[in-house]
Amino acid sequence: MEAVTPLIEGGIFAYLNYLVPAKRKEILEILVNGLKRMEYRGYDSAGVGFEGTNTKNGSHELKTIKQKGKVARLEEEIAQTTDLDFEKEFDTHIGIAHTRWATHGEPSPTNSHPQRSDPSNEFLVCHNGIITNYKDLKSFLITKGMVFESETDTEVIVKLVKHISDKHKDSAISFRELVELTVQQLEGAFSLVFMSSKFPGECVSTRRGSPLVIGVKSKAKLSTDHIPILYSKDHRGLMNPALHHTDSTTEFHPIGNKEVEYFFASDASAIIEHTNQVIFLEDDDVAAVQNGCLTIHRIKRTLDESATREVTTIKMEIQQIMKGSYSSFMQKEIFEQPESVVNTMRGRVNFETNQVVLGGIKDFMTEIRRCRRLLFIACGTSFHSAVATRQLMEELTELPVMVELASDFLDRQTPVFRDDVCFFISQSGETADTLMALRYCKQRGALIVGITNTVGSSICRESHCGVHINAGPEIGVASTKAYTSQFISLVMFALVMCEDRISMQDRRTEIIQGLKNLPSQIKAVLETDEHVNTLARELYQQKSLLVMGRGYNYATCLEGALKIKELTYMHSEGILAGELKHGPLALVDKAMPVMMVVTRDKVYPKCMNALQQVKARHGNPIVLGNNDDKETQQQVNKYIGVPSTIDCLQGILTIIPMQLLSMHIAQLRGCDVDCPRNLAKSVTVE
Ligand code: M6R
Repeated sequence: MEAVTPLIEGGIFAYLNYLVPAKRKEILEILVNGLKRMEYRGYDSAGVGFEGTNTKNGSHELKTIKQKGKVARLEEEIAQTTDLDFEKEFDTHIGIAHTRWATHGEPSPTNSHPQRSDPSNEFLVCHNGIITNYKDLKSFLITKGMVFESETDTEVIVKLVKHISDKHKDSAISFRELVELTVQQLEGAFSLVFMSSKFPGECVSTRRGSPLVIGVKSKAKLSTDHIPILYSKDHRGLMNPALHHTDSTTEFHPIGNKEVEYFFASDASAIIEHTNQVIFLEDDDVAAVQNGCLTIHRIKRTLDESATREVTTIKMEIQQIMKGSYSSFMQKEIFEQPESVVNTMRGRVNFETNQVVLGGIKDFMTEIRRCRRLLFIACGTSFHSAVATRQLMEELTELPVMVELASDFLDRQTPVFRDDVCFFISQSGETADTLMALRYCKQRGALIVGITNTVGSSICRESHCGVHINAGPEIGVASTKAYTSQFISLVMFALVMCEDRISMQDRRTEIIQGLKNLPSQIKAVLETDEHVNTLARELYQQKSLLVMGRGYNYATCLEGALKIKELTYMHSEGILAGELKHGPLALVDKAMPVMMVVTRDKVYPKCMNALQQVKARHGNPIVLGNNDDKETQQQVNKYIGVPSTIDCLQGILTIIPMQLLSMHIAQLRGCDVDCPRNLAKSVTVE
C-alpha cells in the first residue's frame, strides 16, 4: 500500500530530566499533565511507566500504572498507590506515558500502554499506530518462549526488544541499537518511546508514518540548532563508508551533556508549556538520550535527505496546536481523509494480488455466505454509508439486502430469522437505537456483525464478529471521516463476498484498483476547498438547500443534506432525482437553491433529464460532477468537479465537497461546527 502518514491515534508523552532534580510526585504530575494536553484527540485508557526504586530493598525497577477510562481515573489510581515514595527526589529520571485509542483488544489496564517485555518490566514501550505483521512476530516470539498477556499489537514490539537483548546478552549492545534491530522487523505505522531498567536514565524513540516531536529545555543555550544525523550499522553490521558513522553516543554531543530536560510527544501540544524548542523527527529516525545527550541516528541514507534535524522554535497557543493549522476539528477530520481511508484498508487490501482479507470476520465467512439475506442497520451518517453501498452489495453478493434505520426497524418489530446476517454500523459503537436493534436481532438468532470505529464499545462487545474501520478518533459531532471509512469497509466486505466468483473477477479488480487511487483523488477533491467556500458565500443567507441525485450518489444527497441541516440549521433535503416529478419539483423556482450530483455513470442520462427539469423551472443548480465532464459543465454556471473513479466508489469523492460546503456555510452563519446545537457526538439515549 502507498506509504502515507497515518492518523494520530492516542497520544505519547515522555519526560526525561538529566541533572535537573525533581521529586517523583513532580515527575508524575508532568507525565499526567502531558496526557491531559492530548485528551482532545480521543482515547479510552491511559497509563504511565516510570523508574522506581523499591522502598523495601532499594532495588531499581520500572513501574507502570494503567487504567481504563479518562486521565482523571489514572490520576486517582496514582494517588491511591501506597508503595511509592512520592517525595523521593531524582537527579535524572525517565518516565513514559500514553493515552490509548483501542485498535487491537478492548480498553483495559492490560491492553493499555506502556506495554512491558516481561513481568519484571525490563523494557517498556508506548506506541501510536498499527503493527501490521504483529501476528507473525507474535507466533515467532511464542516459539521462543515469550508469554503474551495483552491483545495488543504493541506487545510484540517490546517482547521483540527483550528477545534481541537476551540474544546479545554477552555483547555491549546499546539500548538504541536494540531498538534499531527491533524496528527493522516491524511493518506498519508507528511512533515509539522506550525505557528500560537495563539502561536507567536513557530513552530511545523512533517513528515511521506517525508523528513524534522532541522538546528540549535547558538553562544553557543549546550548542547547535541543527543536529547532525549519525548513520548506524545496518542489521547485518554493514556500514556505508561514504557516510559518517558512529556507534558511540559519547563521541558526539550536539545537545545536552549539562542540565537538560527532554519531552517526547506525538503532539507538540503536550510540550509547548515546557519549551518551545522542538525537533520534529522524520520517518526512520532513531533518537536516543544517553548521559543527557540527544543524538539522532538513521540506518539508511536516501538520496536528497537532509543531513541534520533542525531545532525549531514554535510559537503557537496550545489550542491552536491541538487542531494543527485547522480552524476546527471538523475541518481537521475532513482533511485527514486521504490518510484515514488508507488506515481503513491497511493490512486488508493487497493491491498487487487483488486480495481482500477482513481478519475480524474471516472465520465467519462460510456462515455469512450461506445466509438468506443481509441487513444493514444504523442511524444518521452510518445509515447513509449503508445506503451508499447497497447497490454494490446487491451486485456482488446477489443476496437480498435490507438497509434499515435502527429506530424504525425496532418500531416495526421487523421479522428477523436465524439465517439472517445483521450488520450494525456505528462510529461510536454506543448509539442506543443501533444497540437495541442489535440485541433484538441477536435474540432472534441472527449472526451479528459490528462495523465500528471504537474498539471495546458496546456494539463491538456484543457482536459475534466485526470490522473496525480504523478512521482514528472523530471529535467533531458531524461525522465526516467515519463516513468514508464505513463506506470503504462495506465495499471491502462486498469484495470478500465475491472473491470466488469467476464471473466477478474483472469487476473486483477494477474496484480494488479504484480503492488504491482514492487517497490521491481525495487530496485532489480537497483542493476544491476555496472554490466551495466561494459557493458557500452565495448560499449562506438562504433558508433552504435541496440536494438531488440518484443511483450511487443518492446517499451523497442524503448525507450532504444531513450535514447542511446539522451544522448550518438551514432546511435541507436529500432528494432522489427519480422522485422529482412525484412532488419535490413543486419546490423548484428561480429562488430555490438546488445542488445536483451528476456523475458519469449508468444513470447519467436520467440525471441530465432531472437537470433539464430543474432548469425548465428557472432553477439555477450548482452541479457536483466529474471534473473531466465538459458536456455537463457547459449546461450550468456553477460547477464543482471531482476526479472520476469507479461508479460504486464515486460517492466517496462526491461527499467531500458537501462536507466542506456545510462547514463553510456554518462558519459564515457563525455556527459552532464542532458542537452543533442540540446534538451530541454519541447518542446513548433512545
Ligand atoms: O456513532 P454512530 O455512528 O452510531 O452515530 C449515528 C448518528 O448519531 C451520527 O452519524 C449522526 O447522524 C452524525 N452526527 C451526523 O453527522
